[in-house]
Amino acid sequence: MKHPRISTLHDVKSALRNTQEFSSDLQGDRDVRDYRQLPLEIDPPQHHTYRTLLSELFVKPRIQSLQPQFDEIAAHILAEFEQSNGGNFVEDVATPYVVTCLGVIFNRPQDVSEWLAWGPDVWTADGPTRDGTRLHTYLAAAYQEALHTSNDDAWSYLAKYQIAQRTITFEEFKGMSSVMLAGGRDTVIKLISGATWHLLQSPEDVQALQSGEVDIRNAIQEFLRYFSPLPSMFRVGTDQQHLSDSERNPDQFIEIAFAEANHDPTAFEHPERIDIRRGKINHVAFGFGPHTCIGNHIAEIETLTILQQLLAKLSSWTLRTPANLTMMQTQHSQFPASIHVLDIATR
Ligand code: HEM
Repeated sequence: MKHPRISTLHDVKSALRNTQEFSSDLQGDRDVRDYRQLPLEIDPPQHHTYRTLLSELFVKPRIQSLQPQFDEIAAHILAEFEQSNGGNFVEDVATPYVVTCLGVIFNRPQDVSEWLAWGPDVWTADGPTRDGTRLHTYLAAAYQEALHTSNDDAWSYLAKYQIAQRTITFEEFKGMSSVMLAGGRDTVIKLISGATWHLLQSPEDVQALQSGEVDIRNAIQEFLRYFSPLPSMFRVGTDQQHLSDSERNPDQFIEIAFAEANHDPTAFEHPERIDIRRGKINHVAFGFGPHTCIGNHIAEIETLTILQQLLAKLSSWTLRTPANLTMMQTQHSQFPASIHVLDIATR
């Protein structure tokens, strides 16, 4: 059965502002977890408490101060990629880059190899069947370590945080750390891989970005709009808000279609085209309203850093085989929903 859905840019923004009629107070992934992801799955005013707690880790000046480290990570990974004459960019460059940067952001470099072993989706880390054991074993150990040591890392910060004179619970810890680990992987990997896929086929855009004729930050906003790495999220309507999680019918949850809104022809001329010269791009790739992505600076600064290095290289790189793309079809547009393989020769 199809979910009720909201899909024009105007209506998506109105719904995201209206948290009473379109509530985030729902628990997703019920097959693999039994807690709410925070601050994602909770409404204001409680939402504000968790959002404030996390904002210290995610504020722009902090992420900007880490950019030289992102730059070194990108240089190292790209040098290795070129030494072996390329390979699958998604697996060999975008994934290790994004996950290693998360190690810096959360100050947990020792965990990067574990996070990489989870593959693209943590719920299928140990096989094709969805299972939360691998993530929850990791989080239980991380929580215990955080409580009993004085490490200067994201897990210690969360585990010891006081809300109204009580320390946060393991449930709350899991709620925040799981979304911090899950939210910032696939989305940024898709953005960087998508931008690279486009630029490989568009030497004129590479030229415009290299010469400074088009600001690379604007181009990143257009890549965000076009690829919409998180295509949609759900809300609970007023008909089901009074019910408990187990009584609710998830088929009736309302789908807020960020990707479709970003391809709304009444808001964007020729939405099916990547046009890095668009003026102000009023997209909802990061959502809108109180739940607007808290990782937006991470996504933008990580992407900016690696693209700046890639621009100088792309003119000598070629696609060895056509990219393996699954397309997403909206009413007015079509664009890659996922990019698994970007097989590149670097010489
Ligand atoms: C291109 C990359 C990204 C995209 C497209 C994206 C997209 C989104 C969207 C659309 C939302 C709003 C969800 C809703 O309204 O229900 C969101 C929320 C969130 N994102 Fe991202 N995200 C990205 C990167 C990241 C990163 C790097 C992190 C952290 C490492 C992150 C962590 C979060 C968290 C914690 C929330 C919940 C915020 C709240 O509820 O207040 N995201 N993201």
